[in-house]
This record gives sequence, C-alpha cells and structure tokens, in this order.
Amino acid sequence: MLHLISTGLNKIKADAIVLPVCEDKMLYSKKEVISLIQVAKDLKEFKGCKSDEVILYNVAEVQPKRVIFLGLGKFSKISPESFRSLVGSSVQKCIQKGFSNILFVAPDENMLNHPVGVILEAMLEGACLGNHIFDRYKKEKKNIPLQKISVWTSPDPATRYRSLPGRIRTICEGTILARNWVSTPPNEKKPEQFSSEIAGLARKEKLKVRVIHESELKKLKMNAMLAVAAGSESEARLVIMEHAPIGAKKTIVLVGKGVTFDSGGINLKPSGSLEDMKMDMAGAAAVAATMITISKLGAKDKVIGVIPIVENMPSGNATRPGDIVKSYAGKTVEIGNTDAEGRLILIDAISYAIKKYKPETVIDLATLTGACVMALGEKIAGVFSTDDDLADILISAGEKTFERCWRLPLPEDYKELIKSDLADIKNLASSRMGGAITAALFLAEFAAVPKWAHIDIAGPAFTQKGTPYCPKGGTGFGVRLLCEILK
Ligand code: BES
Ligand code: MN
Ligand code: ZN
Repeated sequence: MLHLISTGLNKIKADAIVLPVCEDKMLYSKKEVISLIQVAKDLKEFKGCKSDEVILYNVAEVQPKRVIFLGLGKFSKISPESFRSLVGSSVQKCIQKGFSNILFVAPDENMLNHPVGVILEAMLEGACLGNHIFDRYKKEKKNIPLQKISVWTSPDPATRYRSLPGRIRTICEGTILARNWVSTPPNEKKPEQFSSEIAGLARKEKLKVRVIHESELKKLKMNAMLAVAAGSESEARLVIMEHAPIGAKKTIVLVGKGVTFDSGGINLKPSGSLEDMKMDMAGAAAVAATMITISKLGAKDKVIGVIPIVENMPSGNATRPGDIVKSYAGKTVEIGNTDAEGRLILIDAISYAIKKYKPETVIDLATLTGACVMALGEKIAGVFSTDDDLADILISAGEKTFERCWRLPLPEDYKELIKSDLADIKNLASSRMGGAITAALFLAEFAAVPKWAHIDIAGPAFTQKGTPYCPKGGTGFGVRLLCEILK
C-alpha cells in the first residue's frame, strides 16, 4: 500500500496526482512538471503559499483525472515536517473525497536544502500516518483509508531508498498501534485485558514476555505500585518484554506509565479533568509498541520494556492521602495525593528493572503532570536527564521525527519540596509550582543508573483537535522517537 516509484509520469494510474509547490522556487526539473505548475500558478488563486490549494481536472499530459497542487510556502522555511504534514493532511482530505489511490510527486534531488532521503522518509511517514482512522466503535464506516499511496521520485533515489517504504510502514504501524491503544475507551483496556493484549502481540514478534500478576507483585513487595491499584476492581499487572539479540553490548530499559484510567483516586479529579484520562497509559502504549516494532526491525542492543499497568480508582479499599507505603526499593513514601499516582507505579518498575537487568540506560515515558502541559503546551514533551549526552540524543531524535522534546532541569535544591516529615519521601510536593520538575525529581531518587531520562508526554500523547497526520485521540508520541534512538 506504500510505494516509492519512478515510472514515467504519463504512465501513472491514480485518482489524483499531488504536487507540492513552493512559493518562491521551482523544486522540479522535469519539463512536464514545470509546465503543469505554470498552468496552476497562472491562476490567481494559487501562488504556492502555505496551505494554498488548487485542483486541475482532466489535464492532457497525465492519466489521472485530477492534479492537486499544494502550497509549501517560502523555500527558506521548508523542512521535512512541511512535507510530512502536507502529505498527511492531503491524505486525510483524499479519504474524505472517497479516493483510493494517490500519487505524490517528490521534489527533485538537490533542489532542497535537505537530503532527498529525509524528504522521502517524511513524505512516506505523512502518507502512512495520515491514512489512519480510528472507527472501531462506529457501526457505519464513513471513511475508508486509501488503498494505495505512492511517492514518485527519479530512478536514482528510488533505487537507493527501495527499502524505505517497508521500514517506514513498520514504524508507522507501531505508532498506529500505540494510538489505537490510547484511543481505546477505559472499559475496554482494564489492566488484565491491556496486559494480555500486549503480551499476545509481543509473543507473535518473538519477544520474550512475562506478565507478573498481582499475587506475585505482592510477594515482590511492589507496594507503591499496589497502593495505586488498591481502589480498583481490576488487578495490577507488570509486563516485561525482552528484545535480546545475540552479541548485544548495551542494555537499555524502557519504562512506560500504564494507568488505564486515572480518576485521581480518593483525590478525585473534577469534571473536565476526567474525560480524557483513558490516555494515562500512553507511556505504556509507546513502550509496548516500540518493543514490537524494534523486534520486527532488529535493533542491535538489548532492550527491555517494563510496563506497570494499573487503574487508579476511589473505593473503600483505595489508598488514602496520608498513607505511607514501603516501595520496592525499600524507601518509604508518604502519599500526599492519590492523584500523583504515576510516579508511584514508575518507581517500583524502575527499581525492579535496575535490580534485575543492571542496565546502563533507563528511559521512562509517562503522562506524568498537568504542570508539564502548562509549561510546554500540547505538542512538546519535557525531557529530564541526569546525562547530557542522553538528553541531547533524545532532543535531536525528536527534531528528526518532529516529536519535539524540550529539556527541563533537575535542580538539587528543589528536592527540599518532596521531603516528608514522616517517611523517606513524599509523592506530593509542598509547592504546586514547578510540578513537572518535582515529579521528575521524585523519580530521580529511584533511578540509580549511569544514564536516566524521563520524558513527560502529558501534552503530546493526545490530540483534542487532530493534526495534519493524526486524527483526534492518541498520537503514538514516542514510538518514532524511541525507534530512532534504538536503530
Ligand atoms: N495523569 C495525570 C497527569 C496528566 C494531566 C496527564 C493532564 C495528561 C493530562 C497525573 O497522574 C496527575 O494527576 N498529576 C497531577 C499531580 C499532582 C496531584 C501533584 C497533576 O498534574 O495535577
Ligand atoms: Mn493522577
Ligand atoms: Zn496519571
């Protein structure tokens, strides 16, 4: 369904040909293409400015009935993301028009300030991700994904990058898997079900999988994690997935927050804050989908996915504000607020993973704090790290995949804020200010490894309005990022 082709443009059969056009520079050298663009630009309504669009019908030079011209804007502002979103939004529009087979023409090699491979990659990603629809709960399927999307380039790059569509498709399928899990309603992904779905898919991909049930978690004394699950009718689960290729030198642990629904517990969230809390397992979804994807792609390092899964609910058995629990690592935690549950499940998962696997690197992904959304908005993740190199690697990977990450500090003196009068540490900081930082500092107390990074994805894990290449709901944020750093 995703192709990179270089056959003669006059031979192409499709519902439409799509041509990205720049405002102030010609991106093509083929005569036929240049003259087509001239026809479009002769029209008053099309200049190639950002989001300009015009459609020419029944053009003599090509077989498809429509040629769609899409504006990219000014040459100096064009980035790979311009192509990812142009292609993604065009695919979404073509789906609505009922098309099934579309061809995108890529600019000529050397016409842009970016390597053609990067542009082709972005176009293929936009195509694949924009073609995703979440309509599992609709009886009538109004929109049907495109059956065939092709990207046209000249023969040289088409040969050089012939394996690209396959790889991009695998990574995008991982992203879509994570999106679908996040968008799934909370009654259909309670911990027992979510964990067995992960295990089922992972085992198909030759990953070694272990699902630790609540009785065993009790024996292991994962009391911080169990404290969160206490109020729910559902049991807690810890899913562990291993990708262990022979000859691997490094061990990397990925941890993902898996709260299938975060009601806040006894510190019940108010209306307005509850409705989207099915997304509180987006870290878990990203880690599970990444593990499945790197197993398909064959990453060279040993990678362990550790996924604590619970539901945070109020009830007569629920943990109370004021309770003190002894974490897996042995430190006691005073529970100041049952809505600061993510950090409780994460510390037990992180401590367990460090003890068992002795990794050099631990990276956790979590929809951890509303404060991070306040600081960085809905589209940018907060990165905290004890290691500058790891932080830089994550930030550059995020620039490449356009899963933007911004580093926030771990100031030593802020540790004051999570001191407890009674226990070793408190899950609620004594100030509401800097909430993303104090949450990260809490995790840092348990992340005794050479390299640790925490990515707060509370903002970008979910999109209220939809984006050029993501429908409303889960975004799959983190999957492409993690695949990028593990490749
Ligand atoms: N899951 C939430 C954080 C969240 C908020 C995710 C908005 C996505 C969107 C987390 O468990 C939480 O409730 N955090 C509290 C912490 C507070 C009680 C210290 C918060 O951010 O308000
Ligand atoms: Mn919470
Ligand atoms: Zn939460």
